[in-house]
Amino acid sequence: MSELTDAVEVDRALKARHRAMWAQGDYPAVAAEIIPELGEVLVEACGLRGGGERSETGAPRGEGRGRRLLDVAAGSGNAAIPAALAGASVVACDLTPELFEAGRRLAAQRGAEVEWRQADAEALPFGDGEFDTVLSCVGVMFAPHHQAAADELVRVCRPGGTIGLLSWTPEGFLGQMLATMKPYAPPPPPGAQPPPLWGDEDHVRALFGDRVTDIEARKQTVLVDRFKSPEEFRDYFKERYGPTIATYRAIADDPARTAALDRDLAELARRHDQGAGSTAMEWEYLLFTARRSGDEVHA
Ligand SMILES: C[S@@+](CC[C@H](N)C(=O)[O-])C[C@H]1O[C@@H](n2cnc3c(N)ncnc32)[C@H](O)[C@@H]1O
Repeated sequence: MSELTDAVEVDRALKARHRAMWAQGDYPAVAAEIIPELGEVLVEACGLRGGGERSETGAPRGEGRGRRLLDVAAGSGNAAIPAALAGASVVACDLTPELFEAGRRLAAQRGAEVEWRQADAEALPFGDGEFDTVLSCVGVMFAPHHQAAADELVRVCRPGGTIGLLSWTPEGFLGQMLATMKPYAPPPPPGAQPPPLWGDEDHVRALFGDRVTDIEARKQTVLVDRFKSPEEFRDYFKERYGPTIATYRAIADDPARTAALDRDLAELARRHDQGAGSTAMEWEYLLFTARRSGDEVHA
């Protein structure tokens, strides 16, 4: 086998593992119960408002009308669905098509029309400049090769179009949760970069370089207050969130390490807890929007 074929096979195996990881547990429940507002936040930041308003014919009235929009690593449509309700013509793509069943159900419940496509963010099956808006809500950050993924976001966005990303920051809660799990998980493959780097503005600016302009980046938080205790938070993620499930599986035959991870995750939530009587946490993310360079006139 040539070196190139080897590399392709290694990447295929890695992506198959990632797909299996995100398919386990119940990620659609996490999106719906813990961070449902984030998709809407990102859609609005990309200039699409008016979700849900309809004309007499039932057509959406929102500001997304006529816009072709791609949601990358869309999961069950946390951003894709509000984008469609704002009137955009939406393609939701993800490595893990197992999540589309929930996405289709949610879209139907809310009256949104979305096209679902399986795709690796590092090799999108779309043409150059095919979309007016390309966005990703805590999604593309989980593709292991950041430059390859950023190059694809830029490629499929038309000049003058909008790229919008919402990513957990390294120092925020989810970034810290991934850091807490890291010593317990198998080492990442060579070349894979940590997801929360996408929450670092300088890193994202460097990935896009001068291919984007009009950058706006700000850190915000989402309040997570549905858990009664740090332990309830831990057990919820242990049961439903693919990366947490995979980490526990890797140490399943080591009760001492399993107990240590149990303690570390509960402790992390305790440190972030601002609640009185129940656990309330502010989870920080970076909201990044930019315009694809190359069409300064027709922006
Ligand atoms: C935390 S979920 C976010 C899903 C959705 N955007 C949301 O806001 O709920 C991360 C998603 O990234 C997807 N993903 C991971 N690696 C990917 C890759 N290489 N290409 C495309 N999607 C990927 C997973 O399948 C999962 O749906």
